[in-house]
Amino acid sequence: MPKRRILVTSALPNANGSIHLGHLMEHIQTDIWVRFQRMQGHQCIYVCADDTHGTATMLKAEELGITPEEFITGIKLEHERDFHDFMISHDNYYSTHSDENQQYSSLIYSRLKDAGQINVKSVDQLFDPEKNMFLADRFIVGTCPKCKTEEQYGDNCEACSATYNATDLINPVSKISGAKPILKKSTHFFFALSSFSDYLREWTRSGTLQEQVANKLAEWLDAGLQDWDISRDAPYFGFEIPGEPGKFFYVWLDAPIGYMASFKNYCDRTEDLDFDDFWNIDSECEVHHFIGKDIINFHALFWPAMLSASGFRTPTKIHAHGFVTVDGLKMSKSRGTFINARTYLDHLNPEYLRYYFAAKLNGNVDDLDINLDDFIQRVNSDLVGKVVNIASRCAGFINKQFDNQLSVQTSNPLIKEVADQKSNISMHYENGDYGKAIREIMAMADKVNQFIAEEKPWVLIKDDGNRDKVQQVCSDGINLFRMIITYLKPVLPELTKKAEAFLNVEPLDWNSLDVTLLDHHINKFTPLMVRVDPKSVAAMIEAGRESPELNNGPLAKDTDPEDIADDIEFDDFAKVDLRVARIINAEYVEGADKLLKLTLDIGSGQRTVFAGIKAAYEPDQLIGKLTVMVANLKARKMKFGLSEGMILAAGPGGKNIFLLEPNDGATPGMKVT
Ligand code: 2FM
Ligand code: ZN
Repeated sequence: MPKRRILVTSALPNANGSIHLGHLMEHIQTDIWVRFQRMQGHQCIYVCADDTHGTATMLKAEELGITPEEFITGIKLEHERDFHDFMISHDNYYSTHSDENQQYSSLIYSRLKDAGQINVKSVDQLFDPEKNMFLADRFIVGTCPKCKTEEQYGDNCEACSATYNATDLINPVSKISGAKPILKKSTHFFFALSSFSDYLREWTRSGTLQEQVANKLAEWLDAGLQDWDISRDAPYFGFEIPGEPGKFFYVWLDAPIGYMASFKNYCDRTEDLDFDDFWNIDSECEVHHFIGKDIINFHALFWPAMLSASGFRTPTKIHAHGFVTVDGLKMSKSRGTFINARTYLDHLNPEYLRYYFAAKLNGNVDDLDINLDDFIQRVNSDLVGKVVNIASRCAGFINKQFDNQLSVQTSNPLIKEVADQKSNISMHYENGDYGKAIREIMAMADKVNQFIAEEKPWVLIKDDGNRDKVQQVCSDGINLFRMIITYLKPVLPELTKKAEAFLNVEPLDWNSLDVTLLDHHINKFTPLMVRVDPKSVAAMIEAGRESPELNNGPLAKDTDPEDIADDIEFDDFAKVDLRVARIINAEYVEGADKLLKLTLDIGSGQRTVFAGIKAAYEPDQLIGKLTVMVANLKARKMKFGLSEGMILAAGPGGKNIFLLEPNDGATPGMKVT
């Protein structure tokens, strides 16, 4: 097969926050693909960078009393360390605040302008008269024009999901200064995206996207594309638009160009690659972007349109993935599941996570759930119990009884069977279906363990006449271990390195699968991986938890002290996630004496709860009310259906039950502290 030349990127992490599980999933997903390609002998360059520009960076630096440049320098070091410790093999980790990025952003802009694809329009925008700056939607809060809920952002309402313009908010205030914003006109520059509809209709169906993604984009294309506002007014941390003083490129204009800039910097630094080979319009090299499903529009609409209109090649493939959830819920600081890279590393081996992600990734845009019990169980049973176990069962005999020497020949059919999986496993890695690759690799590991269990070298060795047989079984076992480790190398680089040292071999690659170690000297076996300790997982969750602030408000004053249950620890209390919920539907449950079936809106979604309040409330009285619910109670299967939480009420029972009804600005999803 001819050698492929591939440039790969992960989405550029924002420079205003730490690396967390979401970034790690994407970078691990990308890194596995990159390492797989390199093991095939292809040239595969993996670049990334911090995405540094925008108002958020500017304000954060200001808050810390440092320059944005100082701020992004510190964050970049932190990000690089985190990725390094997760064995992410970037060839270059750069910054969008670089000369190369300014140069390519200006070049692409001027080519778009020359091609007549930049329009200038005057827009009305909210302006903070105290800070002297225009306000992006997320820096404005006010009352929803539709449902009148207070404290809603400038683009949509979390209570009723209405979308609107910031100028429609009732009583808007600037989140930055608290001032009342005024309407002000400003000249903005727009990229004429709408003129690329036909081009994009074809491009999005040209095999560059997963089918699910192409279908979603077809809906957007059918709805019609708007021109894209690519400028922001000063003050803004970014690149000034050439010839337009006081106007800056919007961060999303220069962010993807940051991929090119990081690669250019790599080419110049290493001097063995030619930028143009990869980015010329007729390039035969490949460019692959790994991204989250939330930024598909930037990568599969704006980006190819910008590239083609400015005379560059477009991406070969965009690999989009879903979001990470933990135990079925969105990552949450209060639950301790918003886990930063460093918090994880303080407690657990990064290869556990690499393996778990690999086992669950399937190359589509479904969300990926980290179930913590499953995480512990799967790593322990697969990696320690199956893979490492093969080596530890066989190595002792070779080390102690045969002077570290493997047998001189083999005719074990399992070796051929495992080698024959090569193209199949390759296909799964290539397609991003790592989960399938892992399942098939583990099925091979099961067979190898079964072979050893059937041969029982520990029994055979008791009879001197069986020595050759023991050496043969254990040598075969070690060869099979080596093949399984080769298949897992893209996922587990560190474990593989230890295995290579034990096996006394050169770095394994895909060709190693065609070789059997015969009459070969191995080294002493040392444990390659220890089991996940559930206590470390619990400690990590604890460390990731932001302690809720104590509320000194009135506690259930009227409760009879006799009825107060045993004291609980604060930590137990902190586990309860109380949320404001709006009752959007209530109905009788056929055959139930006490229950009503409630549908609750908790901001991030809906829940069904069966509550024993039928004697106290008519369903109609409840619809529209706000109440408080335990949002993280495990769903319970009841006679009438699944109950996904519990609402809080007070009173002795029967008719005298009173729902807790927060008011004063409470909105669904709000945490109750
Ligand atoms: O969504 C994000 O976190 C962006 N910083 C990703 C940018 S990807 C690329 F376009 F730069
Ligand atoms: Zn609303």
